[in-house]
Amino acid sequence: MKRIRTQVAIIGAGPAGLLLAQLLHRAGVDSLVIERQSRPYIEGRIRAGLLEQGSVDTLTEAGLGERLHREGLAHEGMELRFAGGNQRIELFGLTGKRVTIYGQQESVKDMVAARLATGRPLLFEVADTALHDVSSDAPRVTFTHEGVPHEVTCDAIAGCDGFHGPSRAAMPPEVLRVYERVYPFAWLGILADARPISHELIYARHEDGFALATMRSETVSRLYLQCAPDEDLALWPDERIWEALHQRLGAVNEGPITQKGVTAMRSFVAEPMRHGRLFLAGDAAHIVPPTGAKGMNLAVADVRLLAPALVALLRGDGRLAETYSARALARIWKVQRFSWWMTAMLHKFSADDPFEHRVQTAELDYVCGSEAARRSLAEQYVGLPYDE
Ligand code: APR
Ligand code: PHB
Repeated sequence: MKRIRTQVAIIGAGPAGLLLAQLLHRAGVDSLVIERQSRPYIEGRIRAGLLEQGSVDTLTEAGLGERLHREGLAHEGMELRFAGGNQRIELFGLTGKRVTIYGQQESVKDMVAARLATGRPLLFEVADTALHDVSSDAPRVTFTHEGVPHEVTCDAIAGCDGFHGPSRAAMPPEVLRVYERVYPFAWLGILADARPISHELIYARHEDGFALATMRSETVSRLYLQCAPDEDLALWPDERIWEALHQRLGAVNEGPITQKGVTAMRSFVAEPMRHGRLFLAGDAAHIVPPTGAKGMNLAVADVRLLAPALVALLRGDGRLAETYSARALARIWKVQRFSWWMTAMLHKFSADDPFEHRVQTAELDYVCGSEAARRSLAEQYVGLPYDE
């Protein structure tokens, strides 16, 4: 058994765990990051790619903005397409803020490089992660790495291990409450070497279902189609995907498809996000459907609150740690509501429901026709201000 002592044990090297490690390092706090997957796996995993201005600012302040500023695509608007027409939402004009397209795995690569450059530990391919004594002042994490059992003693554990990780389950069941909604559809997403149809994002509601045209660069398109939750990709040869995209989005530039996948849609919140010396952040505590691209942005917002709370706790001041969960959840529920609303407005829920279709059209018409409604959409889409 190899024994290690650190201040904060961070479980999971996704955006939440890696950003937390970076912010703690900059505050002079030692941490150990453990990750179940390999480095190439987490650096290649395709996820959403839209950052709120606040997330860009947070990453920049954390010293992670260099390539993001060089390669990220800043957008000042987005488009809603429905009932044969389209409407641009002037995000910048309405809010003074922009959003930035930058693939999540690119942020992860930047964060892994920054972590390795600090010389502080980041262990990949760990197995059997388990949390112990989280209610005490001396919590522990055990795991196996390269065949060797390890035991980490620490002052706090950050559970940044995503929806399927062990951290949430280490909260005593009597204190944990979960709120959940599973949607009757999923997204079929592709990456294609094709020029994006527009330099901004297009969200389309069509009678066949939702579609989204986004991008990763000026030559790589990222396109999504609403599909069944258990969709069989074998039934979607490239021609069928392009045909459905043309149908729902109009003219789309075709090109070789380099990746295909199905993303499940769920809304989920676990409360509270702290018990004793265990703190949850990111997907470990909450999931949003991808319609507003809020997953990574919420992870960043959690960590913005968690890092200073842990720094203060380690200095003997537990006040920010006490309120971490309530402060994080205040934002999370607003963003849950926004993601649910965007999802409800743009997707087809039932095969044949003309009432639903007309109400959605009326809602989209209202949003597009009212400056107050457009402003409300825009201020949530670019990211609500941090309430610290
Ligand atoms: N031990 C160590 N690491 C683990 C374990 C475990 N037992 N279980 C899971 N992990 C790792 C996962 O392999 C993953 O790399 O925890 C990491 C969690 O990262 P993410 O799933 O990326 O979650 P998070 O950092 O909260 O980021 C949220 O990710 O899912 C997207 O859309 C979501 O953009 C959002 C972002
Ligand atoms: C993406 O670029 O992958 C993306 C953008 C916006 C969304 C969802 C996904 O709402």
